[in-house]
Amino acid sequence: MKALVVYDSVYSNTEKIANAIGKGLEASSEVKVRKVNEVDPKYINEYDLVAVGSPTQAGRPLPSIKTFLEGIPADGLKGIKVASFDTGMPREGKGWFLKLVVKILGYAAPRIARSLESKGGTLTAPPEGFFVEDREGPLSDGEEDRAATWAKGLVKQ
Ligand SMILES: Cc1cc2nc3c(=O)[nH]c(=O)nc-3n(C[C@H](O)[C@H](O)[C@H](O)COP(=O)(O)O)c2cc1C
Repeated sequence: MKALVVYDSVYSNTEKIANAIGKGLEASSEVKVRKVNEVDPKYINEYDLVAVGSPTQAGRPLPSIKTFLEGIPADGLKGIKVASFDTGMPREGKGWFLKLVVKILGYAAPRIARSLESKGGTLTAPPEGFFVEDREGPLSDGEEDRAATWAKGLVKQ
């Protein structure tokens, strides 16, 4: 099984999650973890599993991730397992304002998943979110372990 984890990250929290996902996949797959600017979306069909992750900003993935997803050719993910993840603030977080914003805007991973499916990918797990304590991090306790465990489940499908 050849697996690719693609991510972008502003404050390095999503990068840590992507690396933890890479570790989780290691046992079952030949895995590459790559920042989005290092991957050409045209050649993504050489993998059996592609996981894409982004920080959530205003309910959306970063523009770099959006551009990457748009660059995948039509049906470029046909026959390929796909998964998406994001980082963001927990809905049950701090103040009421943030809670409301997060509730209205949602998270990046479901949007990434829809885009991956629109290119023919087969979603192998529901979109998953991992949490930071504040805008710049750090990750909440145990999130890297949870990411590694989530990754192991992706190849079992
Ligand atoms: C401009 C901006 C907008 C953000 N919007 C949201 C949001 O809509 N929902 C959310 O849960 N977190 C939001 N956050 C928090 C980010 O998700 C957090 O910075 C990110 O998880 C950190 O990941 P990174 O270190 O990989 O960049 C926002 C952060 C920034 C800087």
